[in-house]
Amino acid sequence: GAPVTQSLKKIEKGQQLIVAWRSLPVFIVNRTPAQLAQLPKEDPLLVDPKSEVEQQPKYAQNETRSIKPEWLVMVGICTHLGCVPDFYGEIKPEPFDPNWKGGYYCPCHHSRYDIAGRVYKNVPAPKNMQVPPYHFVDDTTVQIG
Ligand code: FES
Repeated sequence: GAPVTQSLKKIEKGQQLIVAWRSLPVFIVNRTPAQLAQLPKEDPLLVDPKSEVEQQPKYAQNETRSIKPEWLVMVGICTHLGCVPDFYGEIKPEPFDPNWKGGYYCPCHHSRYDIAGRVYKNVPAPKNMQVPPYHFVDDTTVQIG
C-alpha cells in the first residue's frame, strides 16, 4: 500500500484524527501535557509498559510510544480480535472504573488501553496496539507507511 501523508495543523490538543492506511484505521492524537504526565503513573497496571514485545518500532520503545511525545500515531486495531477501540481522551471515562484516566476502550470484549495504546492487565487483549512505520516530513506533517 502507498504511504499516507497527513497534515497535523487542524488537530487540536486532546483531539484525535483517524486516517486510513492500508485499509486500517490509524489514530493520530495531539496529546495534552496532562495526558503525557499520566503515562508513567499507569506503568504498574500495564502488561508491557516499556513496549518490549514484538512489533514495536524502535521509536515506539519509550514511555510515549512515539517519535514526538505529544503525537500518538498508532494502528487503531484491538490486539484481541481486531475491533476498533473507542477514544476516551480528556473525557471522564464513566461508567468505567473511576480510577481509569482514559485512553482507549474496546467495545467488543472490554479491553482497555492507555493514551499511548498500552494494554492494561486483566483484559482479553494480549498486547499493546501497534505503532506503524511513520516519520515527520516537516513539523506539522506526518507520513505513515
Ligand atoms: Fe477488542 Fe476483543 S476485539 S477486546
